[in-house]
Formats: sequence, C-alpha cells, structure tokens
Amino acid sequence: MSPDPSIEEIQRTIGNPDRLVRAIFSGRRRNMQPEFDKIELRPIKMHDKLLLQMTTISNTKSKTQNLEFDQFNCLDLITSGYANCLVESTDLTLTMRFTKKGVPMLHRSERVLTQNTSHDRQKSRLFDSSSDFLYKVGITDRNATIKPSMRDKYLQIEEFLRILMPTLRDEISTGRLQKPTLHNPIKIFDHGCGNAYLTFAVHNYLVEQDFANTVVGIDQRDESRMRNTTIASDLNLGESIVFRAEKIAKIGPEKVDLAIALHACDTATDDAIAWSINNQAQILLVSPCCHHDLQSQLDKVSDPWSLVTKNGIMKERLGDILTDSLRAQILKLHGYRTDIIEFIGDEHTPRNLLIRAVLTKSTPEADEKAKYDEMLRIWSVRPRLAELLGFE
Ligand SMILES: C[S@@+](CC[C@H](N)C(=O)[O-])C[C@H]1O[C@@H](n2cnc3c(N)ncnc32)[C@H](O)[C@@H]1O
Repeated sequence: MSPDPSIEEIQRTIGNPDRLVRAIFSGRRRNMQPEFDKIELRPIKMHDKLLLQMTTISNTKSKTQNLEFDQFNCLDLITSGYANCLVESTDLTLTMRFTKKGVPMLHRSERVLTQNTSHDRQKSRLFDSSSDFLYKVGITDRNATIKPSMRDKYLQIEEFLRILMPTLRDEISTGRLQKPTLHNPIKIFDHGCGNAYLTFAVHNYLVEQDFANTVVGIDQRDESRMRNTTIASDLNLGESIVFRAEKIAKIGPEKVDLAIALHACDTATDDAIAWSINNQAQILLVSPCCHHDLQSQLDKVSDPWSLVTKNGIMKERLGDILTDSLRAQILKLHGYRTDIIEFIGDEHTPRNLLIRAVLTKSTPEADEKAKYDEMLRIWSVRPRLAELLGFE
C-alpha cells in the first residue's frame, strides 16, 4: 500500500537537501511508544557535501548522527508513533498531526526561511566572557577568553545552571518555593565550593534572571575561604556571598532553599545530602565525585555477583551505581522527588551525573522501603548516607 500523500510530501520536503531548514518529530500517538521523546533533523555541510543531521533526544540523553539524505525514511518514524511533525523548508512550512483515529492532518503555510548548514552550531553562552567574576575566579584570562584548562569547568557550570533554572521555576510555580524578593532572597548553600566557580556563577546568573539570592560557600579549607572572600569583596558581593571554612557535617541547622554540590569529594556528597535533608532544603542538585565508601564494602559480595566484583574497574563502576541509586532512594524515602541525570557529556568530566531532588513531602509507596532494604541485603552494604541520617 502506498503511503498517505501527506506523508509522501513530508518525506519529499525533508529529503530535499537544498530546501530543508529543519524538521522535528515529537509527541506520541495514543497507545504508541516511539523510541525517543523527540527527533530533530537539519542539513549540515561536511566536506562540501550536504548531509542530514539527526538528533535523537530522550529524557536524559541526546545523540547525533549524520545520514545521507536518501537514507532517511519518514514512514519508519511516523509508524513508530510520533504524534506531531514540523518540517520547515526555505519556502514552505508543513505541520502534521494525527487525529485520535490515527489519520494524518497536514497544514501548509508559505514562509521564507534560510538554511543554516554550519557543522557546529554553538549553544548560546549563559555568560558574557567579559564578566568580571569569570576573570576573578580564574576562568577567563585578561583578554576575556576562557582559559583552555578551565573550559571543562566552565561548561560544567553552564550545564548545571541549565538544569537548575527550570527546576527552580517549577518549584516557584507549584508554590513550594516562594518567588524571591530582595527582602526574601533564595538561600543557597554550595557545599565543598573549592575555588567557588559555581558559587559565583549561580549567584550572578540568578541575579541576572531576577532571582534575588544569597549564597553561602562552604569548604573545609581555610585558604579557600580567604581567597573566595577577597574575590567577593573585590566584586562588591560581600553582602550576598559569604564563605565559611567548615566541615559540611559540622554545619548547624540553618534555613536553606537550594543546596548544591559539584564534585564534593567522596562522602562529602553524603554529608551535603544529609545536611540538606535534615534542614529540609527545597531543592538539591548534587553532582557526586569519587565514591569509596560502598566500593570498600563490596568485598563481602556473595556469588554469583563476585563475577562482577572480582575485576577492580567493574567493582568501582558498580560501587558508583549502587551508591547513587541508594542515595536517590534514601532521598525518596525522605519525601524528595528524585532523579539522576547525565548533566554534561563525559568528554568534559567522567563525573557527569547529577542527583536532582525536590522536596514534595509525599509519602513513598509502601514497597519502596522494602526495595531499599532488599538492595542492602543483596549487596551486604550500609550506605554512609543512611548512617549519617540514622536511617534504618
Ligand atoms: C573537587 S573539589 C570541587 C570544588 C568545586 N565544587 C568545583 O566544582 O570546582 C572538592 C572540594 O570539597 C572540599 N571538601 C571535601 N570534603 C569536605 C567536607 N567534608 N567539608 C567541606 N568541604 C569539603 C574540598 O576541600 C575541595 O575544595
């Protein structure tokens, strides 16, 4: 059976390298489950040849591949269950959606657009590279250029912020967090702040977005406190950003809306999570660093799992996965809606997971605690976070 004429028109328009601007497949049709949340297509020029760049996007990941134009088969995507399709060409925009009965409805409009076939379209930067704070913390040089050695850290910070902003806006829109004002700013704790790259970035970016905030940067090293305090005062930010030399586990009770930690070493991440739970932080964004606690406990693993743990590297990776999964479950059991996402590509840091938790105070399903207990039993482990919280 030949495809519907609307689908043929979509195929023809996407398949024309000289006219295609972009195409997007998204949504899902009733009772259908396409493999990805969204697919984006656009032409790119490589070695003087036009190829079709296809980016598949799902909850936490996006992947890009380049195809020959004649390799693309629109019908495959349509039958996999996408509900909407937008195709923009240089002279025509097509939108197709499916009715509840699965009939395609095509709408055409004449619009003149231009193609952009450059290979690497840069994501727009969140900061002007001439920002004073970037220079003062040591990310940029005197010419406002990001130092090659700081590029990965800069990108980590940007991606961290790209996740923070929608999370913050969601919490404000649900009313779980009050809209900040100058008299009632968002209170932020940055645990294990080190050289405070993230600390200054979060403060500045939120202010730019009209979210008044104060930040406390915590690090156990006094040199870190002294260096960062001088920078804050040079930037006239001494009232809004305060640095303290303290061990996270020793911080007393304080009101906090948002707790962040980027690569706080080993169990400092657990200290940060435990402190945030105890202080009922509304949002937690924590990117864990090295994990040693569970790895050292995995010596007791019984067969057949010793097949996995007998190789050092496998044991290390398993230790990481178990540690973060149990952290997420403990958060859930304390009323936090929690997910773990890859916040940046692993070419920029191997420590690229982010635990995101928001306090909803909802009671977890009865079997969630049983699942947690069973995990501890199977692996014969006791997470540090549970110990810190006195959580049985
Ligand atoms: C790997 S650095 C990361 C620094 C910073 N967040 C960044 O991403 O650039 C970890 C920092 O955590 C601090 N730290 C480690 N354990 C800590 C603890 N228990 N309490 C406070 N700070 C801690 C260290 O001194 C170090 O500066």
